[in-house]
Amino acid sequence: MSKPAVELEHLLIRGGRVIDPGRDIDAKGDIYIAGGRVVRLDLRGTAALPDNCPVLNADGLVVCPGFIDLHCHLRQPGFEDAETIATGTRAAARGGFTTVCCMPNTEPPIDTAGVVELVRSIAGSEGVVRVLPVGCVSKHRAGKELADFGELSLSGVIGFSDDGSPVADASLMKEALRTAREVDLPVIDHCEDPALSMDGVINEGETARRLGLKGISRASEESVVARDIEIARTTGGRLHVAHVSAAGSADLIRRARSEGLAVTAEVTPHHLTLTEEEVGRVGPSARVNPPLRTQDDIDALIEALEEGVLDAIATDHAPHTARDKDGEFSLAASGISGFETALGSLMGLVHTGSLGIKTLLARLTSGPAGVLRRADIGTLKPGSVADIVVFDPRIEWVVDPADFISMGRNTPLAGRTLRGRVICTLVGGHIAYKDYVVKMRMLKGLENINA
Ligand code: DOR
Repeated sequence: MSKPAVELEHLLIRGGRVIDPGRDIDAKGDIYIAGGRVVRLDLRGTAALPDNCPVLNADGLVVCPGFIDLHCHLRQPGFEDAETIATGTRAAARGGFTTVCCMPNTEPPIDTAGVVELVRSIAGSEGVVRVLPVGCVSKHRAGKELADFGELSLSGVIGFSDDGSPVADASLMKEALRTAREVDLPVIDHCEDPALSMDGVINEGETARRLGLKGISRASEESVVARDIEIARTTGGRLHVAHVSAAGSADLIRRARSEGLAVTAEVTPHHLTLTEEEVGRVGPSARVNPPLRTQDDIDALIEALEEGVLDAIATDHAPHTARDKDGEFSLAASGISGFETALGSLMGLVHTGSLGIKTLLARLTSGPAGVLRRADIGTLKPGSVADIVVFDPRIEWVVDPADFISMGRNTPLAGRTLRGRVICTLVGGHIAYKDYVVKMRMLKGLENINA
């Protein structure tokens, strides 16, 4: 990561509601961090203060481990007109994310150690959060020949995916899961049968008929989820299902897990909060793949999230240029710029009582850390790296894409009022993002913050 905007030797975050889902902690307390690590979590609020320690007043705020995003598109190398690692990671920090896994549909795609190293080196010099690259399943992302998983795993990828496209060929998927098992990493599949979705652009159903648009059925996703589960069963490979959108997919994953298969899954904020009706309301900014479905799907996805059948909420942050996104619906690029609205839209589910805040935060922290099999992030355990987000669960704000840090202004939420906003994001104990209210909340050490 690049030099942080604000370097801190130490910091006390005082009197916040500390939620550490992985350790079942939800209590008012103080967190003292120093040397980039969590030193002490004091739930009695009696932490003794070292001299000159800056203090952030977190009264009324939630303090929790930094969010881990298993699925985003940073677009670099190759599509720097849509996003760069510099802008994407700053947008991620604003959303409370301290670790992001970036998908390999770049140009060139991340299919060799050389491209992994390029991404890691740009992230090291220009990024402000941890960037974990995902390598391609197939060479050139062409869906024909397996990429060199041994080389990619040695270069540090966290899994393999041809995301943006499915692994359409079942025999390639079998080879991928078998080979991924040898390097103990998951295959992350964008589950979609191209022969079923064809040139569909929206959920198949009522809204598609009304708008005269071609539909993508749930079966397009569910049939590939079912196929992949069976291949995972025979190969013993780890399968991670990307951006689950259909109720039936959640059922298949539930059954696979109850049978003890190594299957994990994620769901996006937009598939949890928006329905196909958005397309009629806002047009191309609601075009996304898989498509937004219906309230019945949302209800099933939330249930699966509560149960832990869906391990993680992942943004699928997919920035696009206005040129690629605006215009006729059927020609518009798929994807939503999601980092900066994720927390606010998900907190909407908490405010309406649809989802518990502890579940929400677990699926943004300990859940994805579990998928990555990492015990060192997604936790506030003393000794762990100080990746922390402080957010105001109640504050209302209106989404204005022109104000995004992300270069991708493509959001269906423009003009919407959201409730819940990140106040401060720490990565390795340093401030990677701070909202303007931080200035008012620094009780001591304002000179160090320079907000
Ligand atoms: O809507 C999407 N956009 N879905 C994907 O799978 C890929 C992504 C992109 O890269 O824009």
